[in-house]
Amino acid sequence: MRRKVTKAIFPVAGMGTRFLPATKSVPKEIMTLVDRPLVQYAIDEARAAGIKEFIFVTSRGKGALEDYFDHAPFLEQELRKKGKVELLEALKATNMESGAIAYIRQHRALGLGHAVWCARRLIANEPFAVILPDDVIAAEKPCLQQMVEAYQETGGNMVAAMEVPPEKASSYGVLDVAEDMGSVVSVKGMVEKPAINEAPSNLAVIGRYILSPSVLQNLNKIKSGAGGEVQLTDAIAQDIGTDNTVYGYRFRGQRFDCGSKAGFLQATVAFALARDDLREDLLRYLQEMVQVDKAAE
Ligand code: G1P
Repeated sequence: MRRKVTKAIFPVAGMGTRFLPATKSVPKEIMTLVDRPLVQYAIDEARAAGIKEFIFVTSRGKGALEDYFDHAPFLEQELRKKGKVELLEALKATNMESGAIAYIRQHRALGLGHAVWCARRLIANEPFAVILPDDVIAAEKPCLQQMVEAYQETGGNMVAAMEVPPEKASSYGVLDVAEDMGSVVSVKGMVEKPAINEAPSNLAVIGRYILSPSVLQNLNKIKSGAGGEVQLTDAIAQDIGTDNTVYGYRFRGQRFDCGSKAGFLQATVAFALARDDLREDLLRYLQEMVQVDKAAE
């Protein structure tokens, strides 16, 4: 039996410049898909995968995130008084057990690898998950749960993977596949943001990882890579061929790039259409819009 994965790191230190001016005062991770902030989707996915300790790597200006996970007794009391049971339940899902959540500051924006490294003392010597809340994945079985199950078989390091259009590969970490076993692939190389035409494949890393603590040791000594930043991809790649070798996992589900405006809007529509209370009206509206658009052509 492998060691259980009970800790997850959520790197949320990014400035979210693509969403300025909104992110001037609102952390990107608090921006809402329908009525839940991005970060809530990430937390729910982690919980479903058995995560018990939630480590946020934050930065200046992210105070709203800490408030979001705090209990809100006054608000709860008001809702209880008014008999708003459903809203009370929704609020409860945001409460974190005392001590289950930790915040570490990344003092300088040195890259994703550095952000993960900032949490090293809270991870110590056990496997851990990393979730990038920008990557929202709609799936029947949550993506990280799928990965935890696959990881029971493989061990090592596992990254979520998805085929992307070849011309988009340079926006991602990309896998050089050694053996393709279907949903699991073994990896013989990984490149962060390869130059166009230099990607080893179009199998891209998506923001879910199960990592061995050896990656933290690799991060101790790694130099900056693509974009002048300390890259998590490079630190994981150093484990290829060791006892903690690297696997890609083709998850089942639909991934939305909520780090981009287009992806955020698509996710908003998709999650709204999945809701019984919104579906009918929204669908009618969208159909009308498409017709108007077509008529104008
Ligand atoms: C990060 C990772 C990259 C991965 C991507 C997935 O890049 O460095 O390997 O493919 O997330 O979303 P970022 O999007 O932060 O530039």
